[in-house]
Amino acid sequence: MATVIRDVTEMQRTAERLRNSGRRLGVVPTMGFLHEGHLALIRTARERSDAVITTIFVNPTQFGPGEDFERYPRDFDRDRSLASSAGTEYIFAPETSAIYPEDYCTYINSERLTTVLEGKSRPGHFRGVTTIVAKLFNITRPHVAVFGQKDAQQVVVVRQLIRDLNFDIELVVVPVVRERDGLAMSSRNAYLTEEQRRQAPVLFHSLKVAEQRMREGESSCARLINEMKELITARSSVVIDYVSIADAASLEELTSIDNRTSILVSLAARFGKTRLIDNVAVTL
Ligand code: PAJ
Repeated sequence: MATVIRDVTEMQRTAERLRNSGRRLGVVPTMGFLHEGHLALIRTARERSDAVITTIFVNPTQFGPGEDFERYPRDFDRDRSLASSAGTEYIFAPETSAIYPEDYCTYINSERLTTVLEGKSRPGHFRGVTTIVAKLFNITRPHVAVFGQKDAQQVVVVRQLIRDLNFDIELVVVPVVRERDGLAMSSRNAYLTEEQRRQAPVLFHSLKVAEQRMREGESSCARLINEMKELITARSSVVIDYVSIADAASLEELTSIDNRTSILVSLAARFGKTRLIDNVAVTL
């Protein structure tokens, strides 16, 4: 079983000791309620390092008012055993007060990349993400950090954070892990009713259709986006937050598809109160 560390200083000392003994450290930051997506990250971290630190912390600063911070699913004992079997050696699971003491006042603000997509729909979200990720890097001192493509914009923002703040960390990205019917795995899928769960794969389906249409030569992003929206709303009682076709590196919206290296088709949609995101990266 993985060793659980709750204290910040103890985590820093442990990481320092492991580094000094020549071990390569991998970190997998998570908010817990682990599923196969998280476990794929942990397994990748295990392949890329000698000791994996999985962090479990539901980070309050990345949730907006009225979002699901309080009801976010939690099951520490289950997480501990899953993370351990996937190859985690240390679990860093601090109390909120250890990360954000009462007098806490420093935040990292990533500009440009965070004003679009998730950042536009969830103001303040990425300020919380960049702040906690930088703190977790300073606390766990990893050589490698593993993130999931499920949160495509988060990957772009963290890559820039590593570059801008000179973290000496290799970023490894793992493809989206999906259920058999295509639904991207997410801790939030636990909120879905049976009916919503049956409808939810329409999101991935619409992304695949858009990819297919691009490959067939459709070049108008407006047409592609409209087709996706029609597909999604025809099949389910879902409310679309956004559907976007953007340059995968700059996240700038595209109006037409040309032969660029990488295109990010992404979306966010609500099934009742449950907000889901998904994406595909397309290289033509
Ligand atoms: P969380 O949503 O728990 O996700 C933790 C990591 O698992 C992220 O890198 C995410 O992209 C990845 N992940 C989630 N579902 C996945 C799936 N189906 N396939 C592949 N990877 C998947 O992302 C966060 O937590 C937080 O923002 C965090 C980075 C921990 C900062 O609080």
